[in-house]
Amino acid sequence: MTETRAKMYGNHIGGDWVEAASGETFEDRNPANGELIATYARSGKEDVDRAVKAARGAFERWRLFPAPKRGEILYKVAQLMAERKEDFARAMSREMGKVLAEARGDVQEGIDMAFFAAGEGRRMLGDTVPAEMPDKFAMSLRMPIGVVGLITPWNFPVAIPSWKSFPALVAGNTVVLKPAEDAPDCARLFTELLLDAGLPEGVYNTVFGYGEEAGTALVEHSDVAGISFTGSTAVGIAIAREAHKTHKKVATEMGGKNAIILLDDADVDLAVEGSVWSAFGTAGQRCTAASRMIVHSAVLDEFTEKFVRAAEALTLGDPLDGSVDVGPLVNETQLKRVSGYMDVAEGEGAKLLCGGERATGGDLDKGYFFRPTIWGGVRHGMRVAQEEIFGPAIAIIPVSSYEEAVKVNNGTPYGLSSAIFTQNVNTAFKAMRDLYTGITYINAGTIGAEIQLPFGGTKATGGHREVGQQALDSFTEWKSVYVDYSGKLQKAQIDEI
Ligand code: UN1
Repeated sequence: MTETRAKMYGNHIGGDWVEAASGETFEDRNPANGELIATYARSGKEDVDRAVKAARGAFERWRLFPAPKRGEILYKVAQLMAERKEDFARAMSREMGKVLAEARGDVQEGIDMAFFAAGEGRRMLGDTVPAEMPDKFAMSLRMPIGVVGLITPWNFPVAIPSWKSFPALVAGNTVVLKPAEDAPDCARLFTELLLDAGLPEGVYNTVFGYGEEAGTALVEHSDVAGISFTGSTAVGIAIAREAHKTHKKVATEMGGKNAIILLDDADVDLAVEGSVWSAFGTAGQRCTAASRMIVHSAVLDEFTEKFVRAAEALTLGDPLDGSVDVGPLVNETQLKRVSGYMDVAEGEGAKLLCGGERATGGDLDKGYFFRPTIWGGVRHGMRVAQEEIFGPAIAIIPVSSYEEAVKVNNGTPYGLSSAIFTQNVNTAFKAMRDLYTGITYINAGTIGAEIQLPFGGTKATGGHREVGQQALDSFTEWKSVYVDYSGKLQKAQIDEI
């Protein structure tokens, strides 16, 4: 019954909401119970062309609109987002399954980012440096690059579009957003909010649909000057390859295989709390989620017992119910992927300590719920210790020294986030130096990055940085400017004769 009443939403292009050129749509469903939330335009090349054209048309005016004024619109965005926080959070829990408290946190990260980027409108630092010759002035400025394409994931459906959109906009770019097909409602609310805050027509365009269709068209488009993508390493690599053909600036935020190290002097209870939060928060569906515990043998038994007990005590259920700790996985593909790793782990000889299966019974049967899973006795080389699972599953790897822990931590293809629990300040400082990841936490888990610091990782994670002032690097080109006010031709690097 509800199904026939589901609303249909179009793309936002050049100030109008329009259907896909093909008239096709796709469904947005609640992963906790299968409910149909809405249908959205299934866009292709033609729709992307129109959106890019609108963005390109708006660019010449937007880039000349003073940056402090662009920032003022972002202040308004921040205020409106704070007012609408609960609406966003509920829409988010409903369409992608994150529990309400975490959904509110996701929106808060968007609000923080809007305030931060708004401030850049009056800062956006460049350098002034001495010139080699008299009566000459030298400086560097950030320039917008043009139309940027943003391809965003479902797991942080407000925070990540905010991370990308606000620095891009404040720097003077215009945008085409292609949000994940699993979280279009959040992207629609986000787009409406930007318009309500006063962004001129054409500056922000949103095209719904699938990566292989709308996403590919955006990446291939010759009028798109930059692409910023968050998602899997396989897709990120394909995007980077393709985007280079049209000389785009590319930022890819990709996978992780983050670990928490517990040394023999760790506060074990604190580490248990941090590990449960990092491994099972957002049902493990964060780039920053912990999926390896690297534990010193001196605290292995105590930690394992407490960790398993805490994981088993987590409540699974409807993410909109405030008493629930862990919601469903986002879709059936993810459920299959995570389930598949149970066989992999068994085949490799890992010991299943808890979870290991789909959660069923009562209302759980209607959704993609998976029990928090812990494997013991995992060796560093096993697939479950190397590959990103993106679900509520974590492997405990025993070690016997700090040096071994560092080696294990650094021994995966990825390098996003790392964490170490130790009471020794010397060891803590060594870890800050030795762990080869973009983010390191001391005495906290692997999640919870704040937007005023750069976010990103090393190696297969991508190497680019989002948020912080560094976010501007993906959306600007540096221009070096020399002003000669000597009134004569001065030749740099030429010896006097
Ligand atoms: C992500 O999973 O892609 O640090 C982003 C965190 C959040 C952002 C995660 N602030 O876990």
